[in-house]
Parts: sequence; C-alpha cells; structure tokens
Amino acid sequence: MYIFLLILLSLTARSIMPTAALVVNNKTVVSYGGPKTHVTIDQYNRDGDWNRTYHPAEPQQIHISWISNGKATRIQFSTMASVDESRLQYWSDSDNQDDINEGLDWEFVDGGIAKHSQFMHTFITKELAPSTVYKYKVETTKDDQVYTSKTYEFHTPEEDCPSFKFLATGDIGAANSVSMPVFKELADSHEFDFVAIMGDQGYNLDDFNGTKGDEYMNFAQDFYAKVPILTTAGNHEAAYNFSHYKNRFDLMPYHESDFDNAMQYSIDYKSLHLISFATEVFFEGSDEQVQTSLQWLEQDLIKANQQRSKTPWIIVIGHRPLYCSIFSNSDCTENAELLRFGQEQEQGLESLLTKYNVDMYLCGHKHNYERTYPVRNNEAITTSYHNAPSFFQVITGNAGNYEGGDEFDDTPELPSWLGTRYKGYGFTTIEVSPQYLNLHHYETLVDGTRGDLKDHVRVTKTESHINKQKIIN
Ligand SMILES: [Fe+2]
Repeated sequence: MYIFLLILLSLTARSIMPTAALVVNNKTVVSYGGPKTHVTIDQYNRDGDWNRTYHPAEPQQIHISWISNGKATRIQFSTMASVDESRLQYWSDSDNQDDINEGLDWEFVDGGIAKHSQFMHTFITKELAPSTVYKYKVETTKDDQVYTSKTYEFHTPEEDCPSFKFLATGDIGAANSVSMPVFKELADSHEFDFVAIMGDQGYNLDDFNGTKGDEYMNFAQDFYAKVPILTTAGNHEAAYNFSHYKNRFDLMPYHESDFDNAMQYSIDYKSLHLISFATEVFFEGSDEQVQTSLQWLEQDLIKANQQRSKTPWIIVIGHRPLYCSIFSNSDCTENAELLRFGQEQEQGLESLLTKYNVDMYLCGHKHNYERTYPVRNNEAITTSYHNAPSFFQVITGNAGNYEGGDEFDDTPELPSWLGTRYKGYGFTTIEVSPQYLNLHHYETLVDGTRGDLKDHVRVTKTESHINKQKIIN
C-alpha cells in the first residue's frame, strides 16, 4: 500500500508541484526547469510538441550521430512500449530509398521508484555518398498499426572541400534554453557538420522518474535529429551511474572506439581527431574507473599521433574545465586542480593533453565563455596561437538553462592564462581545415536570435610543427 501511494504521488507530481521561485546559490533563478522541478513554458520552448503525449508505440526522441569517420550515421529513437517491428528509411535525390530493418533494441528502465521503462532503438545507415543531403524517417509497427515519425534531413561531408564547421555548446536546459531557437534555425541551414555538446542536458534527465529526460529529448529533437551530435556526460547526468546518459546517447561511436559505453569515444572527421572524455569519473568514479578512463585516453592519443599527418588536429571534449577564472568557486580551484593533476597529484588530464600534444580542450560546466592562451601548469606558455607548444581551453557552457549565467568575480587581477571571457549567453562555431582552426563565439540575444561576435581566434600550424607534435617524449 505504501509503495502504491509513493508511485501515485510520483506520477501525479506534475499537477501538485508548488510554483514557488527557486533559489540556487543564494540567487533566484530566472526560470523553472531545474532539478526536481517541472519545465514551464517560456519563449524558448513554446513551439513544438515536445511535451505532448505520444502513442506508446510511436517513435519519439530521435537523434543522429556520426560513425565510421563521417561515412555513415547511427540513428536512435525511443518508444514507450515494445513494438513488433522498427525500421529506418533514408534516401536522397540521387540515392534510392534504403530500408534498414535490423538494428539494436533494448529496454531502458529508469532507476526511480516508478520504474518508468522505454524501448530504445538504434539503426546504422550503410556507407553514404559524400556532399549529399539525405532525408530519413523511422517507423514502428505494433498490432498491425504503423507509426511514422516526421521526415528529417542531414548532410554528409563535402567531398571537394577539406574544411568543415561544427557547433560547440553545453549546459542546455529545457527551460530558459536561450540558444535553442538559434540552434534549430542553424540546423536547417546545413552550415554545420555536427554539434559537440559539453554535457549537462535537460536538468535533469532522470527527474520525475525519467520523464523530464523524455521531454528534453523531444524538445531537442528538431536540432538533434538534423545535426549529428557528439556529446559528453556532465555532473547533471550522474544519477543511477549515468544510466540516462549511457542509454539515451548509446548512439555515440564508442562501439567503434574500444570503450564499454558512451562515456568515452573518439572519431576522425576530415583533418580532426575528436575525443570525448568523461571528466565526471574524477568526481564519481572509483580509482579503478579513473585508471581505466585515463588508460583508454592514452591509448587513443597514441593511435591519434600515429596518424597525425592525416588528422593534424586533436580536440578533446569534456564537461568540466581544467582552468576557469571564478576563483571564489571550487570548480575553478580544487575541482579544476583535481582534474588537472588527479587524486594526490598522481595523474590527471593535463599531463596526457600536454604529452600527446592535444591542440584544444573544449568544455562547459561554467555557464559562460572563457578562452585561455596555450597553457600548462597554471601558466600561459605563449599568447600566440601559431604553432602553439601546448593546448588551449575554451569553456562554452552558456547555451542557456534554468540557472542563467555564471557571474565573474569582481577581482582586479586575472590569471596569466586568461585570453578572454564573456558572461552572457552564446555558442561557439569552429571551422577546421588541415592548416587552421577558426573559432568564433557568438552572443545569443534574449529573444533567442544570434547577436554580436564576442570572440574570434584563428589557430594555425605548419607542417614542420605537426611533425614535431608526432614525436612523443
Ligand atoms: Fe555541470
């Protein structure tokens, strides 16, 4: 009886949630939608059917990612009930329709008291033609009834152009999601080949027995189903041993990266080797898990350097910063140091990034934008981004969520490694060519549109520098 009452309370929480203002870190948050609160409708999420009731057998939460170095995609979606059949159909103007009926299906049960379950489905396309816009839809059949998703489209890498652009963002809520309208507009432009997401999505995916995660994935669907996503896990995804992250983002290319789950993987895309590393292992994992993560990273970096002529740029994405300038906050002092140097200074991330000549570390967690100079051991090595002798870091965690932005300290002295910083909403674009990385950070205006350019840096290197980077001491 007691358990029944708890389940009932949990399932009806939506209708009885108090609507008092939330206070986080002694400040009233700009919007509801944080952990343990429901998402209320605001100007950034008012469109779309993300919170409608889907038929239990109907496909929802569709998202797409790259595999095989951008030659194929893996597509994932959910149904709330088991289905008799599921399939992916994709086609282009020059390619006939291909039906993929064989994929992976599994049940994912949330760790909450209601044991909310759903069925995950993933499909892999065959090798795709380059420079092509593909359309696709997913379908299910249950009891002779067919349920079809909307048709989405994405593009494959340009064959004749060595450069490409990707979006970088993080810390995206379903409430106060200021940048989501811009992202959805950019998704239709075919300007970006993928989006790197630096963790903390939905706030929190596991809330209300995981139903907030369903809502978030449906809210993001018109972005995530059009632009292939490459994600990393944040602290807000830690519940139940990151089970929501691991299951909802099972489409990440970890299957092809010798890792056990979506927490870590790497992919080559034209001249870029991109690695996703789970910084949360330092805060949530055992010593053994930390070692496993670091050993995998080291092996991946060794392989990346063996093929550095082909992929001269190595970018690592993770959730938490190694450096940030809000020194009144432990994220920028003890937590950043733990990530850099590890427990008892044994081994952290920084020694591997420097030993294997990683070019850039991209992260989120702080809800603002910061760019360092090439940095090592808490010191700027140079202020030049040409043939840089160490990695530089960019925090781009200012997409918008219930917390609003993170304010900077009012301190006159700034660290030597700080290139620039910006506290408003925004997002990053990075153009990658064999010779340069061209990074722009744009403001997102409060009406959800793109504002001014807030930062720009061009990172360059020569052939001889690449040859030096290959040599590991
Ligand atoms: Fe975070």
